[in-house]
Amino acid sequence: MSSGARLEGIGITRRYGGLTAVDDVSVVAEPGRVTALIGPNGAGKTTLFQCLTGSERPDSGRVLLDGRDITRLSPDARARLGIGRTFQRLAVFPTMTVADNLGVGAENRTRGPAVWRVGGLLLGILGFPVVDTDRHQRTVDETLALLRLDGVRDVAAGALPTGTLRLVELGRALCNDPAVLLLDEPASGLDTTETDNLQHVIRQVAADGVAVLLVEHDVDLVFGVADTVYAMAEGRLIASGQPDDVRAHPAVQAAYLDVMAADR
Ligand SMILES: Nc1ncnc2c1ncn2[C@@H]1O[C@H](COP(=O)(O)OP(=O)(O)OP(=O)(O)O)[C@@H](O)[C@H]1O
Ligand SMILES: [Mg+2]
Repeated sequence: MSSGARLEGIGITRRYGGLTAVDDVSVVAEPGRVTALIGPNGAGKTTLFQCLTGSERPDSGRVLLDGRDITRLSPDARARLGIGRTFQRLAVFPTMTVADNLGVGAENRTRGPAVWRVGGLLLGILGFPVVDTDRHQRTVDETLALLRLDGVRDVAAGALPTGTLRLVELGRALCNDPAVLLLDEPASGLDTTETDNLQHVIRQVAADGVAVLLVEHDVDLVFGVADTVYAMAEGRLIASGQPDDVRAHPAVQAAYLDVMAADR
């Protein structure tokens, strides 16, 4: 069983030159829940996401993981603390098989140097209480089955369509046994069946206790899976709360949902 953690961004601001990409935004992703972040192109979703994962430094504001200030920690250090992520621009190893891509996640999950683990093991054998940093690991096989990727396990990732690669990347993040999982547009490039499957997977991961933060354009997916929705436009938070309330919010309708409808 994975154990989740609470991820919180408080008053996050990130500027690029004269542009304020994220303007004093606060969000919380609670363990066991799916939190979605929506907004039109350029709203600042990915920038906020990067501030949470550590790929970007906010100009002001703080990031807390279970109350601990991680604002100054590197992406690697955050990953070791249990923050898993996928990328809006895919980052799979094209020459490796699907199973091996997931295996990379399984190897990465080690929290802290090996000597700590050996030390912990010894202490455990000697009967000392050991803090459990070694959470349940989803095995590669388990994850392949969950994502319905069993059929392509031995196929080189580079030969697969984008939709499948999104699932491979999600699988790699899951094999890291995240306490918090941040997904940037995981449904982009997925067909309807794959999106339905993704929705099921996201629910299952949250049911395991993980805090899931989802950045997504697919409105059906967001409103089908999210417990809480934050809506951004032009760097600012314009609404947040229960999905139905956010969907009905006039500012959201004006800034986002109308745009989506016009696109169709
Ligand atoms: N590295 C950067 N340098 C300069 N400007 C940037 C940079 N990254 C993002 N921006 C700008 O910041 C704003 C927010 O971009 P961001 O990528 O966070 O939006 P988004 O909500 O994720 O959009 P999308 O839905 O298209 O992915 C945009 O105006 C973008 O052009
Ligand atoms: Mg983005």
